[in-house]
Amino acid sequence: MNSIELMVQEHKNILALVAVIRNAGCRILEGAPIEVNDFRDMITFARTYADQHHHGKEERILFREMTGRLGPAAVKLIQHGMLVEHDMGRFHLGELEVALERYESAPNTLDKLEILVNAGVWANLLQRHIDKEDNVVYTFAGRSLTDDVLQSINSEVELFENQAEEKGVQETALNLLKHLTEKYC
Ligand SMILES: [Fe+2]
Ligand SMILES: [Fe+2]
Repeated sequence: MNSIELMVQEHKNILALVAVIRNAGCRILEGAPIEVNDFRDMITFARTYADQHHHGKEERILFREMTGRLGPAAVKLIQHGMLVEHDMGRFHLGELEVALERYESAPNTLDKLEILVNAGVWANLLQRHIDKEDNVVYTFAGRSLTDDVLQSINSEVELFENQAEEKGVQETALNLLKHLTEKYC
């Protein structure tokens, strides 16, 4: 298994959710009602796949090796760039979730705005974040880590993937994404 190729592939699935979120937002601006349960499904995919499954591998395996082995430039790039952006993503998902709860119990324009803003910011943040990882962070890892370290990352990622597969993480999340893209894309 090439773990960097796998993570680039996962980025494509996360970008499919970005497109779903943007299309759902545009429909609302054009007058469609807010489909609270669809937004909850978007949050579920963002949390279980983009954050726990994908960011989990970055934070616990790839980024750990990069910050431990590639010096101050890597530490700065990861800790003050990528990890801060992972946290900002979590914040906007939390804000989106509470706005959906408030809107569901008492529909109002301010929470409609909060839903559109937080979903839209998450989508823009993840798109830019993925672009940086594909073109800067992962390429830096690929050319700077030794073959031995890359091999051990691959083994750890394979174990992580197998454990997630036993719990059905990828299958459940990708089925949810399929349902959302069929409806919104
Ligand atoms: Fe990331
Ligand atoms: Fe990533």
